[in-house]
Amino acid sequence: MTPSHVTSISECRHALGGEREAGRRIGYVATMGHLHEGHLSLIDRARESTDCVVVSVFVNPLQFGPTEDFEAYPRDLDRDLGLCADRGVELVFAPDESEMYAQAPVTRITMSGVTDRLEGAARPGHFDGVLTVVMKLFQIVQPDAAVFGQKDAQQAAAILRMVSDLAVPVEVVIAPTVREEDGLACSSRNVFLTGPERQSATRLFGALRRAQELVTNGERETGQLEVAMQDVLSADDRIEVEYAAVVDGRSFQPLRVVTPGALAAVAARVGSTRLIDNMWLMSDVD
Ligand code: PAJ
Repeated sequence: MTPSHVTSISECRHALGGEREAGRRIGYVATMGHLHEGHLSLIDRARESTDCVVVSVFVNPLQFGPTEDFEAYPRDLDRDLGLCADRGVELVFAPDESEMYAQAPVTRITMSGVTDRLEGAARPGHFDGVLTVVMKLFQIVQPDAAVFGQKDAQQAAAILRMVSDLAVPVEVVIAPTVREEDGLACSSRNVFLTGPERQSATRLFGALRRAQELVTNGERETGQLEVAMQDVLSADDRIEVEYAAVVDGRSFQPLRVVTPGALAAVAARVGSTRLIDNMWLMSDVD
């Protein structure tokens, strides 16, 4: 069975109004489509605690910089609808740009602190675009629970903070990163990698594992861990490192020593494809 697929805000509200009136809890997974096992794991997680799972598919232009890959971003709605059907998704909301931004939005969600460093520094305006669309999607879907991936750790931290700061009535669940067998984190952008680049890309995971191993062996200086990660990445000349850092995984402030909640995060270009990944070094969460 293919899930109902709606493209307008009013159809989406109408369909979900009925579910809510029938007393069903709504679970929500926001995506930009080209679904992979990572996205599907979020759908399964939403299913565990809700009765009606909604997936949105929308490549949000607001979160791409002028030189980024908005046009090239992979899109295949028919395939996504098939995967959602296999997973028993009840409703797919797939608006186009003219529906989501009928008029150019002049109202934005902006954040400081959590979003200042790493992805926020590398991609100016990115998190304003993410938070603005997520807030709007929350208003449209009005989910009881929404599941996001730890793969985009800074995005997850920013959404948790926005929901807390603005008392948004939704339970946010952060689900673990799903990886390919060799450790590469599943990502819609992996399709851009050539064969040799795909090999090189496993170094992101390798660098994070190296940091984790050093912590297990007693290293606590984040400077040492950052150098070690940088070394693993830059030993491959297909890789151009953007950052290899240890931060607090909720505030995204730098850490001098590893303490509970420390997160290692890397971003690198492999050929022309920009990839990110992260790993908890000392967990204060499950
Ligand atoms: P997208 O990159 O499509 O990711 C959608 C959701 O899937 C995000 O919560 C992301 O963290 C999660 N995800 C991606 N790869 C994953 C993996 N390997 N394991 C587990 N979860 C994974 O993130 C976005 O879209 C957008 O910024 C969005 C939130 C939809 C706003 O436009």
